Amino acid sequence: NETEKVNTNIITLTRFLTEEQTKHKEASGDFTLLCHALQFSFKSIAYYIRRATLVNLTGLAGSSNTTGDEQKKLDVISNDLFIEAMRSSGKCALLVSEEEENIIFFKENAQARYAVACDPIDGSSNLDAGVSVGTIFGIHKLADGSTGKAEDILKPGSELVAAGFTMYGASAQLVITQKGGTVNGFTLDNGIGEFILTHPNMRIPRTRQIYSVNEGNSLYWDDRVKGYFESLKQPQENGKPYSARYIGSMVADAYRTLLYGGIFAYPADKKSPKGKLRILYECAPMAMVFENAGGQAVDSNMKRMLDVVPEHIHDKAGIFMGSYDEVEKVKAFHK
Ligand code: AHG
Ligand code: MN
Ligand code: MN
Ligand code: MN
Repeated sequence: NETEKVNTNIITLTRFLTEEQTKHKEASGDFTLLCHALQFSFKSIAYYIRRATLVNLTGLAGSSNTTGDEQKKLDVISNDLFIEAMRSSGKCALLVSEEEENIIFFKENAQARYAVACDPIDGSSNLDAGVSVGTIFGIHKLADGSTGKAEDILKPGSELVAAGFTMYGASAQLVITQKGGTVNGFTLDNGIGEFILTHPNMRIPRTRQIYSVNEGNSLYWDDRVKGYFESLKQPQENGKPYSARYIGSMVADAYRTLLYGGIFAYPADKKSPKGKLRILYECAPMAMVFENAGGQAVDSNMKRMLDVVPEHIHDKAGIFMGSYDEVEKVKAFHK
């Protein structure tokens, strides 16, 4: 009987968030509403990415952002979609975005208790080739009595209340985790327009012989980083060297690393002494996901990424993240 094989007890993101909310008696429902606004922005960004080639949304916008990146048309549109979703949620007091020089304060959201950091499109150099990209987000809670100031977001990742990302690949995959919680993965079902829980309680494998780094930068690496990656190309205990995988979209490289295990790195180097990836909306949210899945994330000084405190909203850091044992090997090479 075919009808018996259909799963009619589907856990959508909406249902998941409602069930999470009822577990916390003190919850006001604000976080749930904020997440509903987030998922709407992911659905609309996914929609525009899929249609980009058809409706003249490929290519450059003709501008640059604060961190020096040329903006693609889709960087700008996705940023605008994200900002409007946060504004209209009523629950976001302030927003930091890769594409905005300054913090956006939503004065109209006077009762809002949350501060959000986002990378609207991560991996935007890959957009025109149809390669996977993503959106990264980190959510902080305002300090008691605060109506929203820079200090509410210039905090270490260890204080994030929630973080995650959506990868726009063959399907859209949303990964979210809350402070002290598990990591859960959802797949967008385009037919019904809902994110469905497909990867409950994600755990990163303890070890795996895969490394992911832009090796074109090796000229600029210091000797410890060079030594570490060189060691991966030698025969390991099983007689084989590591495999290399590098997409160039951190979200996609990180998602693969989360599922399969291994190491992802964008080290600080002589060309970028503070690293390339930005703490608030790239490094910290990813570090929270990796730690809550049983992995690790450290900066180029081997400091726990979640303890790194940015001074300015676009501050950068070197990063190594992945399987627990793989990050231990990185640390050993830096002793
Ligand atoms: P973004 O597209 O948000 O500016 O981020 C780009 C980042 C990240 O996605 C990726 O890991 C890295 O840049 C790739 O950089 P390289 O091209 O230097 O390898
Ligand atoms: Mn960019
Ligand atoms: Mn990015
Ligand atoms: Mn970006």
